[in-house]
Amino acid sequence: MVLDQRLVEKIQKLKKQRNAVILAHNYQPAEIQDIADFCGDSLGLSIEAAKTGADVIVFCGVEFMAETAAIISPQKTVLLPDKFAGCPMADMITAEQLSELKNVYREAAVVCYVNSSAQVKAESDYCCTSSNAVEVVDSLPDTQQVIFVPDQHLGQYVAEKMKAARHVGFVLWPGYCPTHVVITEDDIKEAKAKYPDAIVMVHPECTEAVKGLAEQILSTGQMLKFVKGSSAKRFIVGTEVGIIHALKKRNPNAEFIAASGRAVCPNMKKITLDKVIASLEDMQYKITVPEDIRIKAKRSIDRMLAVLPSR
Ligand code: 13P
Ligand code: SF4
Repeated sequence: MVLDQRLVEKIQKLKKQRNAVILAHNYQPAEIQDIADFCGDSLGLSIEAAKTGADVIVFCGVEFMAETAAIISPQKTVLLPDKFAGCPMADMITAEQLSELKNVYREAAVVCYVNSSAQVKAESDYCCTSSNAVEVVDSLPDTQQVIFVPDQHLGQYVAEKMKAARHVGFVLWPGYCPTHVVITEDDIKEAKAKYPDAIVMVHPECTEAVKGLAEQILSTGQMLKFVKGSSAKRFIVGTEVGIIHALKKRNPNAEFIAASGRAVCPNMKKITLDKVIASLEDMQYKITVPEDIRIKAKRSIDRMLAVLPSR
């Protein structure tokens, strides 16, 4: 892929004028990853959004990610280049539904995956990402019941990991990522039959059956780290296909095989170079969160950021 230099130069110029930084998720189209100042997973992006000295953050990802940046850094202008880039999983639970659940399980602590709305985060005690979900739950007393929303598969993964250590159960909300659940057991088995030497690494948002066939269950940031430290030369990758660009770029001598070519997040692919330019030119689309919601949501994010990841 050859980057359109004209567009790249325009973005660089606008970025300077606006004192802007471009943050991109690992699932973004290759050309967006290539022009970003920082590319990472949800946790890395939240940390970067918190520490940047820029006045403007152009968030190349989906809405909940930009919203998280706006919650952490209200003094900065956070722009999402496509106002329709949402996350269907985040839309699978509302604050009202969570509040009803809390009324049923009154003693439970609520841990919400960062893939959720600001309103849901505001109703939660702790936020987490796929990088630190286990550590966040592990930081709670082992007699503390946990409501985990909205991803049942990440929740199931955490519950499984914590089984021996915890005395009380998990209440899982039945949300899921439509992109990750299309990866099937057969996809993994076929890829493994074709490349028996390859290491299978999958995202915790995959189904339990798929995770059961994997050697490594990792967030996108952890996949990048794991491959860097591995002597293996071939990897079967069970997550959104955009990560393959990031993996290849950092490991040109290794081979990466997508577990399924159907694992494409259409919302992540809505961001284009032209939209990044329009975003910087017209300062669109500003992502803001009402102050009362922001303060409550920030509490759950701050509690997450206080828990150190173990890898
Ligand atoms: P990561 O935090 O692992 O990058 O995952 C974000 C996401 O949306 C997965 O679908
Ligand atoms: Fe949401 Fe899934 Fe897309 Fe991630 S890959 S943003 S969880 S729909």
